Amino acid sequence: MIKFDGPTSSLRVELGERSYDIYIGGGLLDEAGAATARLLPKTKKVCIISDSNVAPLYGERLQKSLKAAGLVPFLLTFKAGEESKNLNVLGKLLEAMAQGGLTRSDALIALGGGVTGDLGGFAAACYMRGISFIQVPTSLLAQIDSSVGGKVAVDLAAGKNLAGAFYQPKAVFIDTELLSTLPRRFLHDGCAEAVKYGCIEDAELFARLNACADEAALLEAAPEIVAACCAIKARIVEQDEKDTGLRAVLNFGHTLGHAVEQHYGYGTYTHGEGVAIGMYQITKGSEALGLTAPGTAAAVKEILLRYRLPLGDDIDKKALLAVMAKDKKKQGDSITLVLLKRIGEAVLKRLPWQEVPAYIGRS
Ligand code: GLY
Repeated sequence: MIKFDGPTSSLRVELGERSYDIYIGGGLLDEAGAATARLLPKTKKVCIISDSNVAPLYGERLQKSLKAAGLVPFLLTFKAGEESKNLNVLGKLLEAMAQGGLTRSDALIALGGGVTGDLGGFAAACYMRGISFIQVPTSLLAQIDSSVGGKVAVDLAAGKNLAGAFYQPKAVFIDTELLSTLPRRFLHDGCAEAVKYGCIEDAELFARLNACADEAALLEAAPEIVAACCAIKARIVEQDEKDTGLRAVLNFGHTLGHAVEQHYGYGTYTHGEGVAIGMYQITKGSEALGLTAPGTAAAVKEILLRYRLPLGDDIDKKALLAVMAKDKKKQGDSITLVLLKRIGEAVLKRLPWQEVPAYIGRS
C-alpha cells in the first residue's frame, strides 16, 4: 500500500490480482512520482501520454515529480479532441513508445481527460502485450467515471469505442485541484455524471450536489464528491468488471444521450450534456408510465438546471429514435433501459424496441 501525505483518501477496487487503489486529494500531482516509484519498483522509464490542452498545463509538473523519484519520463502529446481517439493516433503513440525505448517493465501514465485515459490505456494494453499504466485524470468526468473500471478504447469509423479492452490501471491518482483550470462547460459536463451516480445509487450524494450553491462550493466539495462517485463505480465494477449485467446501471441517461451526441454532431452537445438530456427525458417518460416515484423528474430537472445542463425538451425525438434504431442491430430486438424507481435507486428494464418511444415521447 502506497501512502500519500496530507488529506488524501483512498479507495480500493477489489478485482483479485487486478486490484488497485484510487487516491483522491488536492495536490497529488506533485507526489505522483514518488507514489509511482513505490508502486512499480521495477519501472525505470515512464511514458506520459497527454493532449495538447493538458500537457502544457501539467506535463512539466508531472515529469518533475517523476524525475525527483529517480524515474525517467518522456512526454507524448496528441491533438486534443475525440477525433484523435483513433487507430492512426494509437499507432503513432505505439511507435513513439518503441522509439523511446519503453520496455515491458516500464510504465505509461495517462494524464488528461476521458479521451486521454481511453487512448493511453489502450496503448498500454497493446504495447508489448500490456505494460503497467496509471491514470491521472484531470477532468471531472474522467475523475469520477472513465479513469476507474478499466474500459479503454479507440473509435472506429463504424462507431465510438469499437476497438478496445478491459485493462485495469495499477492505480488512479486524482488531484482534485486540477479541476480549477477546467473550462466551466466541462466542469458541468462532469457534474452530469456525478448527478447520475446520485440518481442511480445515492440520494445523499444527490442532495449534497444539490446543496452546492455555486462552482466555488462544488470545487471545495470536490474531494468528497469525487470519492463518493468513485466508491459507487468501484463497487459496481467489482461485481461486473466485464459489463455483462449490473454495470449497465452506469448507462443511466446514456442510450438517449449517445443518440443526442451522434445526431447533433459530437461537440454540439458534450457527453455530459447528452447524458443530462437522457436522464431527464427517460425519467419524465418512466414517471408518466407510473414506474418512477412522482416528483422524481422534477428533482432531476432542478439539479440539472443548477449545473446549467440542458433538459432537451426541444430535441427532435423522432430523429433520435431513428439513431437509436440503427443501434438496434448491435443489441437485437430488445434494449435494456436504466430507469429510476426513485432518486437513489435504479432498475434495469429489458424492453422490446417498439416500446421504447413510450419512454422518450415522439414529439
Ligand atoms: N462509463 C461506464 C462504464 O465504465 O461502464
